[in-house]
Amino acid sequence: MSPPGSKAPEQLAAWQRLGALARDVDRATDTRYDHGFSQRLGPLFLDFAKQRIDARVRDALVDLASESALPAAIADLFAGARVNHTEARPALHTELRKPAAEAKAEVGRERERFLRFAEDVRSGRCRGVTNERFRAVVHVGIGGSHLGPELARAALDAGGDRPEVRFLANVDGAAVERALAGLQPASTLVIVASKSFETLETRVNAETLRRWFAPLGNLAKAVRRHFVAVTCNTAAAQDFGVAPERLFHLWDWIGGRFSLWSAVGLPVAIAVGRQSFEAMLAGAHLVDAHFADAPLRTNVPITFALLQIWNTNFLGATSHAVLPYDHRLRLLPAYLQQLEMESNGKSVRVDGEPTATHTAPVVWGGEETGGQHAFHQLLHQGTRAFSADFLACARSGHDLPEHHDWLLANCLAQSKALAEGRADGQPHKQVRGGHPSTTILLDALTPESLGALLALYEHKVFAAGAIWRINSFDQWGVELGKALAETIRDQLHTADAPRQDASTRALLREIRRSR
Ligand code: F6P
Repeated sequence: MSPPGSKAPEQLAAWQRLGALARDVDRATDTRYDHGFSQRLGPLFLDFAKQRIDARVRDALVDLASESALPAAIADLFAGARVNHTEARPALHTELRKPAAEAKAEVGRERERFLRFAEDVRSGRCRGVTNERFRAVVHVGIGGSHLGPELARAALDAGGDRPEVRFLANVDGAAVERALAGLQPASTLVIVASKSFETLETRVNAETLRRWFAPLGNLAKAVRRHFVAVTCNTAAAQDFGVAPERLFHLWDWIGGRFSLWSAVGLPVAIAVGRQSFEAMLAGAHLVDAHFADAPLRTNVPITFALLQIWNTNFLGATSHAVLPYDHRLRLLPAYLQQLEMESNGKSVRVDGEPTATHTAPVVWGGEETGGQHAFHQLLHQGTRAFSADFLACARSGHDLPEHHDWLLANCLAQSKALAEGRADGQPHKQVRGGHPSTTILLDALTPESLGALLALYEHKVFAAGAIWRINSFDQWGVELGKALAETIRDQLHTADAPRQDASTRALLREIRRSR
């Protein structure tokens, strides 16, 4: 919630100065770099030296942060002000990462409950209706109730003797069949994670899974023993049949895409254990404390946000590639797509006026080194301006050092090629260079460094949104499609849909004909 009087970004003096500096960068024959520009934040080292900035740009960016609504917005965020003004809610995900002694009592209580439950499932103390141990956990949820948990599980799960954790997000029946393949109801636990408990995909999938338990006999009893719910809407979860002791509470001041740190992270806690889950929270908390207190110039999430603004608004980057050089971080691009695009894909400011500047770029990416043999051709020789984040771990999580050397060498080589390019007498072999990137080097991938990394991105997104003067915590744009789907679903079975547009009618006819 920026102060009512605060200016739109393009009206700030620093914004104007940045505009002039950007024209300079464009004219420069050699790409300008601020060589040696890097910042460390706990277990993360951020190399910004391949960004197209020099000392003057850096100064102007810091001025932009101080002239903007950002300092007040950070204070508001941590003070619990209603920063999500369209839904009249605070955004207090940072509460979830505080040590128990500092967190709100209800947060500490709920954390204790779900972490204990996770340990009981891991150890076999908590069992199904036939007294079998749970061999599998199916986590049902979508968007923020899915992407963070699956990413964290993939990043941290080292295997071992505990239930296998699977995820079911899509409403596609093929996804349901795959999630259940080979599982037995008697040894399966289902977690239904939905802040609203109304999301179509989750509702339909949860109902299908409930029917799957019918062979266990008394269905109501089976649901009480085999279903867990994580939600704000406790009444709906209880109507579904979830037992009160299997119901974990969420609060409306936790946005879906910021909910990994709550009981939505239960599948992660089951996969990796309480100690690792708490270490992930501690890593995020370290970044929260830094974001709240560090000066603008040395504040790492703010630097990261300012560079996104520089690339997007001044250097014309229309997309941002997320390139993890670590198999365990392969789901990071999908996670960041929601975090960045759902948070900052907006064109109306907090004062209700249309933005006059671009906001979030299109975020995309993929696991490396695969992308090098696919889309990197466009990165090196295509026509579009973009920015990129490279992510790698200095120490690997395996015993194949030769592989890790090659992985790191490729990561460094690609960012160097994107920055420097290559002159060549033959036009088709020239590589233009000049593409800005940040390399985030984790000392090692641990629960702490993962927590720190995700909190870094969360705060970067919030900081950029505050400078753009948009509300990073709502997502009204997704509602239209949901409403349209309700009507169209019914029309799949009716003879004709005269009030539909011509294209939808033709598609409906064709679907009905070929069924
Ligand atoms: O449709 C978008 C959205 O509301 C996301 O913001 C959210 O993470 C997701 O759907 C799931 O919502 P819920 O947790 O309420 O099922």
